[in-house]
Order: sequence, then C-alpha cells, then structure tokens
Amino acid sequence: MLRIDREEAPTMSEHVRNAAQILPRDLLKGRCVFVTGGGSGINLGIARAFASVGANLAICGRTQEKLDRAAAQLREAGATALAIAADVRLPEQLTAAFERTRDELGDIDVLVCGAAGNFLSPAEILSPKGFKTVMDIDLLGSFNAARLAFDQLARSRGSIIFVTAPQAFIAHAYQAHVGPAKAGVEMLMKSLALEWGPYGIRSNSVIPGLVADTEGVRRIIGDGQSEFLDHIPLRRMGAVEDVGHAAVFLASPLASYITGTSLWVDGGQGLPGSGLFNRNGAEFLATASRETP
Ligand code: COA
Repeated sequence: MLRIDREEAPTMSEHVRNAAQILPRDLLKGRCVFVTGGGSGINLGIARAFASVGANLAICGRTQEKLDRAAAQLREAGATALAIAADVRLPEQLTAAFERTRDELGDIDVLVCGAAGNFLSPAEILSPKGFKTVMDIDLLGSFNAARLAFDQLARSRGSIIFVTAPQAFIAHAYQAHVGPAKAGVEMLMKSLALEWGPYGIRSNSVIPGLVADTEGVRRIIGDGQSEFLDHIPLRRMGAVEDVGHAAVFLASPLASYITGTSLWVDGGQGLPGSGLFNRNGAEFLATASRETP
C-alpha cells in the first residue's frame, strides 16, 4: 500500500503561492468586477484574485471604513478600486452603487454576489426576524444585485458568480436560516442561467468549504477548527485565494460555455455529508463566538 508522508505535503500557503505564480496577469485586463460584501473575508479574497488578473473593482458593503481599507489593498495589487457603502437589502443604494461604477469603470462585466449574514442558532429559539434577516441579506440581496445589474451585464455579455455554501445542499445543525437562504441562491443562480443565457449572461456559483482566517469559520466553528482537518479529504483548510481563483476561472473566457454550474471549493469536505458537524454541533455552539460587530 502506498505510504503518504503528510509532512511532505505542500502547505496551504505553498499551494496559494504556486497558483498565484501561474495566473495570467492580463486575463481580465480592464474588466469591471463588482463584489457585494467585498470588504472582508472570502469576498475580499475574490476581489483580490480579480485584481491580480488585471480587473478593476468596485466593492460594496455596509461599513465605509472597512471598504476603504479593502480598496487600498486592491489598489496595491494594481487595480482601480471603488469602495461604495451600500446594503444589498436596499435596492436604491445598490442602484446608486451600480450607476457610479458604470460612470467610473464602465459597464459591469462580472458581478459577484457575496454579501451574506450568518450566526449559529438552534431553530427553536431563532426569532422570525433573525430568520428573515439572513433570507433578506443572502437571498433577496443576491436577487437585488443581479436584477439591478442586469442592464449592464446584458450590454457587457457579462457573468454572475454567487457565493453560496455547503448548507445549500447538506443540512447543518443550527443553520436552519442559512440552509434555505443559500439553497434559494443556488436555484436563483440556475434560474438566471436559464433565462439570461440568451442575453449572453452566464450565471454560476462557488461553494467554499472551511476557509481559514474568515469571519464565517470563526462564527460557525470557533475553536473547533483543527478537528475538522482529518475529515477534509485534501487535509487542509481552504484559503481565500482558492475561492478567488475558482471565481476568476468561472468569470474568464476559459469558462465561456459554463453556466448554471455550482463549483465546490472545499477540499472534498462536503462529500461525507454533515455528520461530523451534527455529532459535535453542541460543542461548536458552545465555543463559537457570540459577538456581533
Ligand atoms: N443569534 C440569534 N439571533 C441573531 C444573532 C445571533 N447570533 N445575530 C442576529 N440575530 C437576530 C437578532 O436577534 C435580530 O432578531 P430579533 O430582533 O428578533 O432579536 C435579527 O437577527 C437581526 O439582527 P441585527 O443584528 O439587528 O441585524 P443586522 O442586519 O444588523 O445584522 C447579521 C445581522 C446577521 C448580518 C449580523 O450577524 C452581522 O452583522 N454579521 C456580520 C456578517 C456575517 O455574518 N458574516 C458571516 C459571513 S458567513
């Protein structure tokens, strides 16, 4: 039997560096990419990946200061970057953000719907408002963004990438609000692929697994991270760059015949289902941070 020396396996940062070295720097040169929720975490990682292949960025979120810090990173990577405060739940704010983006960067070529809200809560104590809040941000917010960017995307024959989650397909304890919201986004992605394909608009999703150093991981599994590694077939956490590179691929001409597809970027973690999470869910609930910013 083949013996595998785990010590010799490349680390997460080595994987990221190797991938970054082979990125074509002008793959999306001058293209306009709008990322909702782009001020931090996976969405900022996606924005950085687009910046690294020559795209210009507009990012939106609720907090201007956070967006300004993120935009500075994108400019360091060589992109023109706009930081526009807008809540995806408020169509008028999104409309203004898209108009400013069009005026300053041209029509949006790629829309990344990444804005999301999440926390752990047993369903029996989750308030209707808490459930609605997550549906409003994740599902309605994704629809708002796609719908309001439609004219620009139709002119650019652009593409949409929705950032969803394993919870869309695999039931997770204490995520009765997130699962239906993300499942809805997955079906929205497919519906738009069907309806907007004739306009030349492609619609796909990325499904990140556990991604290191993100708010999502901190909120969902807190200190229980190391235990998960033995249950991820590729035996490492994801990096934001892993998700960013997948999004760049989906948005690029390399994927010009791909629409209506969900691309898992999870090291295979979703394959065994959510058994581990559910077995240890109470423990994670106890250790996960309750902080809300
Ligand atoms: N547990 C249970 N309910 C919660 C909760 C938690 N940890 N956090 C929020 N809620 C409920 C609130 O109790 C409230 O309902 P109530 O008034 O009936 O009690 C409802 O959700 C709205 O909360 P509020 O904080 O007013 O909403 P918000 O729009 O300011 O922000 C979130 C809601 C979910 C986005 C907030 O948790 C947040 O800002 N998160 C940061 C971003 C994030 O979640 N990132 C993770 C990405 S995976």
